[in-house]
Amino acid sequence: MKRTFLLLSLIVLLIGQTTFGAVAPISNEPDSVYLFSYATAKNSNTNGLHFAWSADQENWTSIGPEMRFLFCDYGRWGVEKRMINPFLFQASDGMWHCGWSLNEHTGTFAHAGSEDLIYWLPQTYPIVMKDNNCLEPEITVQSEGQYSVSWISTGGNQKKAYRVTTSDFKNYSPANEITLSDRLNQRKKVQISGNTETGTVHKVAWKLVESLLNKQKLNAYRDLQWSETTKTDSIRFASLKTLDATITIDNSKSKKISDMMIGVFFEDINYAADGGLYAELLQNRDFEYVLSDKEGRDKTWNSSKAWRLKGNGTTFLVDSVSPIHANNAHYAVLKTTEVGAGLINEGFDGIAIKSGEKYDFSVFVSNPDKKSKKMLVRLIGKNGENYGETTISANSSGWEKVEAVLTANQTATDAQLEIVPQTAGTVHLDMISLFPQKTFNRRKNGLRADLAQTIADIRPRFIRFPGGCVAHGDGLGNIYRWKNTVGPLESRKPMKNLWGYHQTVGLGYFEYFQFCEDIGAAPLPVIAAGVPCQNSATGGAGQQGGIPMCDMDDYVQEVLDLIEWANGDATTKWGKIRAEAGHPKPFNLKYVGIGNEDLINDIFDERFTLIFNAVKEKHPEITVIGTVGPSFEGTDYVEGWKIATKLHVPMVDEHYYQSPGWFIHNQDYYDKYDRSKPKVYLGEYASHLPGRVTNMETALSEALYLTACERNGDVVSMTSYAPLLAKEGHTQWNPDLIYFNNSEVNPTVDYFVQQLYGQNSGDTYLASEVRISDKNDAIRKRVAVSVVRDSKSNDLIVKMVNMLPVAVNTNVRLDGMNDFRSSATRTVLTGTPSDKKARPVTDQVAVSGEFPCTLPAYSFSVIRIKQKIE
Ligand code: AHR
Repeated sequence: MKRTFLLLSLIVLLIGQTTFGAVAPISNEPDSVYLFSYATAKNSNTNGLHFAWSADQENWTSIGPEMRFLFCDYGRWGVEKRMINPFLFQASDGMWHCGWSLNEHTGTFAHAGSEDLIYWLPQTYPIVMKDNNCLEPEITVQSEGQYSVSWISTGGNQKKAYRVTTSDFKNYSPANEITLSDRLNQRKKVQISGNTETGTVHKVAWKLVESLLNKQKLNAYRDLQWSETTKTDSIRFASLKTLDATITIDNSKSKKISDMMIGVFFEDINYAADGGLYAELLQNRDFEYVLSDKEGRDKTWNSSKAWRLKGNGTTFLVDSVSPIHANNAHYAVLKTTEVGAGLINEGFDGIAIKSGEKYDFSVFVSNPDKKSKKMLVRLIGKNGENYGETTISANSSGWEKVEAVLTANQTATDAQLEIVPQTAGTVHLDMISLFPQKTFNRRKNGLRADLAQTIADIRPRFIRFPGGCVAHGDGLGNIYRWKNTVGPLESRKPMKNLWGYHQTVGLGYFEYFQFCEDIGAAPLPVIAAGVPCQNSATGGAGQQGGIPMCDMDDYVQEVLDLIEWANGDATTKWGKIRAEAGHPKPFNLKYVGIGNEDLINDIFDERFTLIFNAVKEKHPEITVIGTVGPSFEGTDYVEGWKIATKLHVPMVDEHYYQSPGWFIHNQDYYDKYDRSKPKVYLGEYASHLPGRVTNMETALSEALYLTACERNGDVVSMTSYAPLLAKEGHTQWNPDLIYFNNSEVNPTVDYFVQQLYGQNSGDTYLASEVRISDKNDAIRKRVAVSVVRDSKSNDLIVKMVNMLPVAVNTNVRLDGMNDFRSSATRTVLTGTPSDKKARPVTDQVAVSGEFPCTLPAYSFSVIRIKQKIE
């Protein structure tokens, strides 16, 4: 431990000296040196912008090596985000401009500007060529304040050069063809660590290089801290023995904190909705799966996915000539000449049924041949075993909804549903549906009871929905539009899920709001800010395709309509629609999120401002939550905060998925937040180890961090771990809070931290002081305490986290308090760091003005102290 500590101290000292100028400059430092900027082809050109420096242009030293100073944010993860042939240029005002090409096919180059080569302003991707590519961009001065960007295009096997001019790197003249020799070809080749790299050379002040070197050292130091895991605790804390500590709670120092601290983030990712929380048991009930849901990668993902015909004498095809509704164009056509064959749905990985339980079957049927039909509807096993059956009749030539109840005579996880026509002729079927009667709260079109209950057990104060990236979608056409998700199921508009599958939107806005109401959580819908996901591939790269400004009025109206739908009385246009759907009383919507970790650029700003101002004007009672990018730092974070501050947005949504080390070393993150600025909703976060693993270690780091959120509960108003749900075998994202399959719910250890916080929230924060027998910083940072009082119950709640490998024997002092009962409830979550199965254990403990309490190694303890009964 000592050696690591010494090493860290040395690095801190070094950084401190160079960064803060604690030591006088060394006299033999050069005034100026050469700076080389370049990108490599590594990882398909996604490693970003690097620098190297040289005193003589012969010997080059890379900074990092290969530290990424600028990262391309164009297009989709994986295949895009490429920086090819960057060209760095310094304008006469000192501003640096970097231009680069993105790929071999798009007529777009990328641009970002920076004053110091460390903080980069938002990237832009001007589309300068329609049907050609844009390679090797080069920036030069055209005239005073005018610049030109030229590039090579190689479409049609012809190498041509083009040029645009600009004064602000935002607006460009149309492209003009120039001769290849008009280009200055200023890129140079230099040798760095034995490799030949291509880039631009600049003579710069040594101070600039020094600042880049310092930035790199600081990052290396941060990386070292943030990559700390318990794996090295045996070295870090080699000689550590059981510690003693005093925790003094000061009743006289208290502040009001948010009573909305713990919520949940629901996104239809990892089959969280269809095949998950939404209790529908049949897959592709509406025959609306399309190849494009999976961009053609899965040839079986089409309108007959999950359906098959078994037996002879009947044909099955999917048609779209006379649909129930234009939004639901496809339906099944069964033509039976000889009775016996059945149409089978395999469910989502099979259908889980319980013996004795009842299932609601429904189907839309029409008889185009005008002959009434009978059909046998059966739950069957893999080998055709009969798990329960009923018969339905369809008598109408037009679409008619037919309902029946099936009772399961078996418990099975792999049942299927079979429909066997009993009459020869042609029948059309659509919206074939099977729901357990035992949905959560027995709601029709409801939610899976066990999953919903697991969520409810967190006691979340709010539910955010429908995402995440699902909210802003993969391209403009995929933005989640709430109006498409309400009304009769057969009229809702199913769509591609950005995570590569299909959304029936059977779990739509009405169901989300109803679930919130059922569990006493505030609804927090997140609406796209008029821009799709920055990682979109469809329709150009990400926010290249913001909703055209001429359509934004309609879009803004859609947001206002949502508020009316949720809160308007039944006489209003949209309130009436809600009332007709079965909820005459308003839903009491208080929060609306606008945007989801968007790329913060002018396109975003323009659209966000329009929506925000309209909501603020028409509905000042609504708390709008803005967005500040996908990270705790960086361009989107800084620019997002600028916009939110400028517009006085009440709250912003921050996102960060980090290592346990990050959470340990950033507990002061919100201590320094300006209280006069917008409040914070930490809308997406999770701690994960390499390989995106979660366990007791990650859970404890979250528990530790949440003590800091409670301490800062005057600025951090809400938090939600993300994502919430993941179906085993269908995950696109790890880690998740709750894993499940068709019959089991498997919460993670991290879930129990959320639950302990949710069930033990307060609205007043009490100051406390922790004194540990060992003052080492590494120890201090791994023991955290938060004390809150809940005004509803008047309970005092003490949360204590010990992330050390040894127990801490504490003495808890309740200064100035004597109105509590002598027995309190203690809940302890503990286990080895790699434990994935740890569960909280509750007992009763004696408490008094000063009482002992041992915090086991690697543990989270919550003591809930009740007031005396008068
Ligand atoms: O939580 C999973 C994803 O992470 C969300 O959709 C997105 O907002 C973030 O990038």
